[in-house]
Amino acid sequence: MKNIVVLVSGGGTNLQALIDAEKSGIIKNGKITCVISSNPNAYALQRASDNNIDTQVIRRKDYDEFVAYDKALTELLKSKKADLVVLAGFMTILGHEVISAFENKIINIHPALIPSFCGEGFYGLHVHEAALKKGVKLSGATAHFVNEVCDGGPIIIQKAVEVKTDDTPETLQKRIMEQAEWKILPEAVSLFCQDKINVINNIAVISD
Ligand code: GAR
Repeated sequence: MKNIVVLVSGGGTNLQALIDAEKSGIIKNGKITCVISSNPNAYALQRASDNNIDTQVIRRKDYDEFVAYDKALTELLKSKKADLVVLAGFMTILGHEVISAFENKIINIHPALIPSFCGEGFYGLHVHEAALKKGVKLSGATAHFVNEVCDGGPIIIQKAVEVKTDDTPETLQKRIMEQAEWKILPEAVSLFCQDKINVINNIAVISD
């Protein structure tokens, strides 16, 4: 059984999807053992405690230097014996130390079809504002491994979602969460926990 540590910053609907997927058996061979928040007021922490999951808070602003924060987060994840780290709406950039300590062991959910609307500055509602501004007819979500290129790691699963003419960033965000994020993130986590993802030349290859 793999230990899954989930990093959050906000409402935690993706965390909830993971908790529900673990309970219903969609996530095989994995257990959420800890939730770490960058924000002490994140509602995601309540979701974790409601489900008797250990919670921790680590704030970037409590460290003068980014390298000290990076080291502290790496040590916290190691102390929790994380086999898999999931970024579920985690809004703080990860550093070199944590990314290299957990190479191809960190999965992020991004609310667009990478390589569209991704990279620095593309997070949360900003992603959907950019998609509507461009007038794309399809958007969606991507579950991918994290490497040192922002939103540039190997893609595990993507799912497309229709954009409607009267969408606002909020309505598009909600549809993408419901139809894509809350499904593909637990699926990607389950594949990882069953050792069904191999990364070859920066491409994630899924086996049956
Ligand atoms: C989600 O839409 C997630 O894809 C996005 O933030 C939201 C968090 O919601 N993440 C990013 O934009 C990361 N670049 P949640 O806290 O309810 O899961």
